Amino acid sequence: MMSVVGAQPFIKPMQTSPSVSPGIQRRHTLPASEVRPLNTQDAISVFEIEREAFISVSGECPLHLDEVRHFLTLCPELSMGWFEEGRLVAFIIGSLWDQDRLTTEALTLHKPCGSTVHIHILAVHRTFRQQGKGPILMWRYLQYLRCLPNVRRAVLMCEDCLISFYRKSGFKVLGRCAITVASLTFTEMWYPINGHAYMRRNSEAIRFPQHPLTLPLAKTDEQVDM
Ligand SMILES: CC(C)(COP(=O)(O)OP(=O)(O)OC[C@H]1O[C@@H](n2cnc3c(N)ncnc32)[C@H](O)[C@@H]1OP(=O)(O)O)[C@@H](O)C(=O)NCCC(=O)NCCS
Repeated sequence: MMSVVGAQPFIKPMQTSPSVSPGIQRRHTLPASEVRPLNTQDAISVFEIEREAFISVSGECPLHLDEVRHFLTLCPELSMGWFEEGRLVAFIIGSLWDQDRLTTEALTLHKPCGSTVHIHILAVHRTFRQQGKGPILMWRYLQYLRCLPNVRRAVLMCEDCLISFYRKSGFKVLGRCAITVASLTFTEMWYPINGHAYMRRNSEAIRFPQHPLTLPLAKTDEQVDM
């Protein structure tokens, strides 16, 4: 289906040529750690992580390559990538949704007037798992969403085995999700986005603008109160 098998997803750190005198070597350094929105050029790296995390396990994945490109074109500001020396190690992809609950349309659509961020996927590259990166990136993402004026809540659907994982990040169970994929069923979870916040935690480079989004004013969106 996807012809990306031979692709080189990760940017290698640039190396200086040994034939150049050290005195005139230019320094090409990539930040040790950087969090920034993703763009379409990151799509292959995203999909490589997905392929290992999901396709090799179940044959399915939350977003196929064309869908990754679709959302990174339409709403890159709702994505977040964690890079170590230029290499994507973890990411989140979201889009806006305008209904209380997720439907199959939410899997492919971005609703610019919606006040709900649908988190399609959080994934960590396998060699960087079990280091707390997933929860840290989610924390940063949720803080970032608080800077967006019209966002009221975040929602996601997950397999039951991940409910406790997302609970630790502050998500609450909303109920069974109407969406099924093959034989897989999901639980829908939500997180309230209240007020404004500015990311000050840690000193790593964060290249999000202070006012990153100009969203059209949303119609009143019923806040789900659990
Ligand atoms: C699930 C995933 C995002 C977790 O990220 P991570 O950085 O590896 O998280 P860690 O292993 O460092 O765990 C952090 C905490 O979450 C808990 N946790 C991790 N995976 C868990 C799971 N499947 N169920 C319950 N808790 C889990 C850990 O026990 C740990 O808790 P603690 O801080 O109280 O000790 C990562 O394993 C991954 O990318 N998996 C493949 C893709 C995937 O399933 N994504 C989620 C669905 S979209």
